[in-house]
Amino acid sequence: MSIRQDFLTPIQSLAREAGALLMSHFGKVTIEYKGDVDLVTVADRASEDLIVGFLRRQWPDHDMIGEEGSRKETGSDYRWYIDPLDGTTNFAHGYPVFCVSIALEHKGERIAGVVYDPTRDEMFAAEKGGGAELNGKAMRVSKMGRLAECLVATGFPSHKRHKNPNIHFYHQITLRSHGVRRAGSAALDLCCVASGRYDAFWEFNLNSWDTAAAVLLVQESGGVVTNFSGGPFEISSRQVLASNGLVHAELMAEFKEIFEGRVEGLPVPQEYSLPS
Ligand code: IPD
Ligand code: CA
Ligand code: CA
Repeated sequence: MSIRQDFLTPIQSLAREAGALLMSHFGKVTIEYKGDVDLVTVADRASEDLIVGFLRRQWPDHDMIGEEGSRKETGSDYRWYIDPLDGTTNFAHGYPVFCVSIALEHKGERIAGVVYDPTRDEMFAAEKGGGAELNGKAMRVSKMGRLAECLVATGFPSHKRHKNPNIHFYHQITLRSHGVRRAGSAALDLCCVASGRYDAFWEFNLNSWDTAAAVLLVQESGGVVTNFSGGPFEISSRQVLASNGLVHAELMAEFKEIFEGRVEGLPVPQEYSLPS
């Protein structure tokens, strides 16, 4: 079996097709709600139908899980993870940061993943043990060795957002880095770690379809992905801490202290507006 020929090449074409479909809807959709602030659009569903239709025709025996409800659980050795539109909130508001994410697992191990950004025509693709590419060129994580010099990213899921402690982490890491971006597509955030644009990324409560492809991309680009305590990343663990590897220990030490309650108080306005 050749992962590249059998899977990676066809799913890149598929992701490109789904990306074109998303672009045909971009700027024209009305917002619907799956939860309080959990948005969905006609484009999410159309993209999932297109992807799932192809996968079912091509590999009728494979299992699958798609964010918009596609499920097939037969105990197959193969399972697909599909996020037909990662960055729906951005998409629904006309903010051009979103992508398509498709990954394939074999016997519990992700072996192929693609993330396609149709707004920049950027195809991120990885095969287990075969490295990762951006538009056909080998991709590596950054070489930044100190958090103080890093550009970092995070995200805030809409589900149970009032219970999410992430704002404290956002605050603390912002004070100790070149900044923390919150662009609204976890898969693209991870691809930015893989390609060295970001040095690290973390998020609480991600789903398997958000991470399946992009975590493989980071790993195959030489990066490290763990849970917040440094344990191995599990597709079901919902905790993701990804980095270039060089700043991983420093970030974990930060996380430990923040979990233990470290908080800097806010300055009073007079203090803040003093000339430096
Ligand atoms: C969301 C995005 C966002 C992240 C959320 C995800 P969706 O995915 O990846 O960046 O913060 O946790 O749910 O809903 O746009 O596919
Ligand atoms: Ca998503
Ligand atoms: Ca989605």
